Amino acid sequence: MQPSSSSSMAIQVVSISTIIIISIFFRKYFIKKTTTNQPGLPPGPTPLPFIGCTIQMLLNRPTFRWIHKLMDHFNTPILCIKLGPSTHVIAVSSPNLACEFLRKQDVVFSSRPETLSTYLVSDGYKTTILSPNGNQWKKMRTILIHDVLAPPMHKWLQPTRDDEANHLLSYIYNQIEKKDTLTDGGLVNIRNTSQHYFGNLIRMMIFGTRFFGAGMEDGGPGEEETEHVASVFIILKYLYAFSISDFFPWLRGKTDFEGHQKIIGTAIQRVRKYQDPLIDERIQMWKDGVRKLKEDVLDVLINHESPKLTDQEIKAQILELMLAAIDNSSNAIEWAMAEMINDPTILKRAVAELDKEVGHNRLVEERDLPQLNYIKACIKEAFRLHPFAPFNIPHVSMRNTTVAGYFIPKGSHVLLSRPGLGRNPNAWTNPMRFDPDRHVDAKGKQVVLSDNDLRMLSFSTGRRGCPGVALGSTITTMMLARMVQGFSWELPQNESGVNLVENHDDLALAKPLVVIAKPRLPHYLYPKTENDEEDDRRQSQESLIDR
Ligand code: HEM
Repeated sequence: MQPSSSSSMAIQVVSISTIIIISIFFRKYFIKKTTTNQPGLPPGPTPLPFIGCTIQMLLNRPTFRWIHKLMDHFNTPILCIKLGPSTHVIAVSSPNLACEFLRKQDVVFSSRPETLSTYLVSDGYKTTILSPNGNQWKKMRTILIHDVLAPPMHKWLQPTRDDEANHLLSYIYNQIEKKDTLTDGGLVNIRNTSQHYFGNLIRMMIFGTRFFGAGMEDGGPGEEETEHVASVFIILKYLYAFSISDFFPWLRGKTDFEGHQKIIGTAIQRVRKYQDPLIDERIQMWKDGVRKLKEDVLDVLINHESPKLTDQEIKAQILELMLAAIDNSSNAIEWAMAEMINDPTILKRAVAELDKEVGHNRLVEERDLPQLNYIKACIKEAFRLHPFAPFNIPHVSMRNTTVAGYFIPKGSHVLLSRPGLGRNPNAWTNPMRFDPDRHVDAKGKQVVLSDNDLRMLSFSTGRRGCPGVALGSTITTMMLARMVQGFSWELPQNESGVNLVENHDDLALAKPLVVIAKPRLPHYLYPKTENDEEDDRRQSQESLIDR
């Protein structure tokens, strides 16, 4: 193994060096400067012919930090980096410019890049989020908007969401009861809890089941759900990972230089091994006439008429919905909780709002959410300051155009920087401070989590804007409201504060947040899990027999 891998490394080094030398030669002798009136590209590093800035990119992982450093270096809110022979990557960090792209020229920038990862995940662009602009994207987006995420469907699925919000409380309560005494509280891993809350929710909405397997006795995820959610996060990590073959398309499928193809292929297979058999089984049930009532999103997709969806489209779209529903919301919950625990005045304000609007004698419900402006402001502040991903999902220009006096060639990948917008000192005062009040209107106007002016990027806007705003806002706010109402939260005894540092490779909190929860409502308000109810039934039967 060893000799062949070192010789292949040597070949790679020689090839790259050759390409660089040829490129420099080519540049020096064959490229004449053209003097036309065409506007110039946005500022950025000088690309080499054929490879562009690929070598710099490879030497400066993670790429998102390199791009942000370049924006600082060139002191520009719009940067152009050429990668490979023909792809211009345009990074943007100012709200005004972002609006030029996604509002003023929304139609021009409404496509997506074609990459190996997105091709594999969407099963050849059969889905919505990842598909380039075209009939298939339009068809799938229309179905999602009208038949999956529309207000009547949102209402129809409310009992499912309520069920999961109850499950959340009983799961945390059980974790405390299992390990510690209720009065002393118990340690809760907020990252695990939130990722599995949103994983459970989307599985319940789509499949009508929380668990692929038996789950755990305390209501927590079993090994199937743990693998499912972990694989979803792996797919998200490698979806737009600046892989070489994204910029040298002829390499796709021929060489897996960085190993991304293997990683993402395995993760897709791990997610689909749980989902696809359930989908096949359900399709068969409808064919055989043994299922007659639509009870979840899968039933809706299977029975969709004009257009009828193929089995492959249903499977690919469901995988994509899993990717859409877990990451942003769970990351916002973890950061919001971390910031709130570090600044007890913020946590106290949130608790006071819940005590005032809901009280201690019942659990907060979805109908309370319009009144919970401070809780919503905490979530919005987490989206602003601590976005899950460094960039919005890439948009691609469908023709040559000019933005803010710069030439943007057809096929450019436009990346709106989420920290660039949300932490922009020209748009926000004291941008690095977690301050929910900045979103609260003195006149009592409802706080909404979206921002159509793109001063921050939560749900984005325009033709490609998130169609899951209502669902995403509801489930994220509901989770924080339940956590804050149901438990008091504090740091473990030996810790003086949460270290609010993000990872180097992504924007997640560097160390998962693990804090102490203590129940703060009357005992009878904590819902029981199915297992608890089963135990109660058994105990009462046993006591009957004893008598
Ligand atoms: C807090 C939760 C969520 C946040 C912050 C969020 C944010 C976003 C963002 C930033 C985009 C990209 C917009 C663009 O390209 O300009 C997007 C796209 C999308 N989101 Fe969400 N999302 C959330 C939840 C959901 C949920 C729950 C669903 C559905 C179950 C969903 C479905 C979609 C779809 C289908 C797209 C692709 C739209 C298109 O390309 O046409 N999202 N979302």
